[in-house]
Amino acid sequence: MSEEKAKLQLDDQIIELPVYSGTEGERAIDVTRLHDEYGLITFDPSLANTAICRSEITYIDGEKGILRYRGIPLEQFDRAKPNFIEVAWLLIFGRLPNKTELNDFRNLLCEHELLHEGLRNQFQVLPAKAPPMAILSAMISMMACYYEEFLAYNDEQLLFEAAARLISKVRTIAAFTYRRSEGLPFIYPDPGLRYCANFLHMMFSLPYRQFEVTTEMEDALNLILILHADHEQNCSTNAVRVVGSTHANLFASCSAGVSALWGPLHGGANVKVMEMLEGIYHGGMKPQDCIEAAKDRTNPFRLFGFGHRVYKNYDPRAKILKASCDRVFANLKTSDPLLAIARELEERALQDNYFIERKLYPNVDFYSGILLRAMGIPTDMFTVIFAIGRLPGWIAQWKEQHDNPATKIIRPRQIYVGNSTTNYVDLNDRN
Ligand code: ACO
Repeated sequence: MSEEKAKLQLDDQIIELPVYSGTEGERAIDVTRLHDEYGLITFDPSLANTAICRSEITYIDGEKGILRYRGIPLEQFDRAKPNFIEVAWLLIFGRLPNKTELNDFRNLLCEHELLHEGLRNQFQVLPAKAPPMAILSAMISMMACYYEEFLAYNDEQLLFEAAARLISKVRTIAAFTYRRSEGLPFIYPDPGLRYCANFLHMMFSLPYRQFEVTTEMEDALNLILILHADHEQNCSTNAVRVVGSTHANLFASCSAGVSALWGPLHGGANVKVMEMLEGIYHGGMKPQDCIEAAKDRTNPFRLFGFGHRVYKNYDPRAKILKASCDRVFANLKTSDPLLAIARELEERALQDNYFIERKLYPNVDFYSGILLRAMGIPTDMFTVIFAIGRLPGWIAQWKEQHDNPATKIIRPRQIYVGNSTTNYVDLNDRN
């Protein structure tokens, strides 16, 4: 329990509130008793200054541009090149898996990579060109219809089994979504391939020709998934926790995460970045026009892939992805004119007072699309790839929430500013 107290003075009353500290020294004032004991609530409309939980999963220092998973700095994952599956295990279970644990997890993923035929048939009733994020959210939600044994969370083994199904099947769902949108036959997963290679195989192989997945492509996708794997209490994770707080099952909660991620201010920004870069490339706008439009307060346009609620410094994920773009294009012996445009936009923005004063830097979405494009992934699948990457984080956060007996339903309050008591008027008596 906290020894430190903050003092809140209101009228002639002094209220003492406990202060908690995190591992890295961040301090938070506990306001949970304010309403019941003093009739007061706090006002923080977009939760910009509210810690909704204590968490041991991911640490971010937005001022310094630091991101760590379970204490491990992000840059170490770039250097050590672990498999995405290993990082998923780390996030969900709190430590790096040993060889046996990793093998067991891999085997379980292979065992569950196929979709239940009932779920697979759902693709036939959805429009082929339906938005991939709508399909993903629906399919994850529908998994609850086929795996009822996981609807209650009782023990870690069940969670392990459910997590393996979700992480494995989500890439099959994603690949089948793309295949159907192109009128191509579904390609079944190949258990002999690693996670990312298997996904690329399902995306691009033909029944009569196996797609050759290069090491560069596999490594780049693996890195992208790892960089997206968790980001503490971001909007979609918060959606997962809000739904999870009602004791709704893991599938329902993760489906909510997909819906929240879809928005252009969150994961959907990677699509918007690409549209912006393509717009410049095809001559609609010049880089400086974009900068000026983003600065114009009367224009809703934003420089997509720039700015972040928490980072007031270069997003460490963007830094790694930018360097990775150079490596990948050199290895693939190709280039993309959009990369040069992105670099120019970044340079101009970082020298512009508007962006400097507001501490707006490139975020994870600024360079990820260029890499995905180099792999042949179509733009409307970018946010789906983000969701595949973020899934372990959602599962880890859902598990942490459920493992904590002190967790309560998330139910904020409001400041009511509507009518005072008003009388109901009969329909015949209204103007
Ligand atoms: N372009 C132009 N201006 C911006 C941008 C941008 N990309 N981002 C922030 N600003 C401005 C705001 O207009 C505001 O200006 P003001 O102080 O004059 O009103 C100021 O910077 C602060 O921005 P807020 O919107 O208050 O910051 P918030 O924390 O609410 O929003 C967000 C963060 C949504 C990411 C925002 O920066 C944005 O819209 N960026 C573009 C979309 C994007 O790239 N989203 C992906 C984020 S990463 C992720 O979710 C995975």
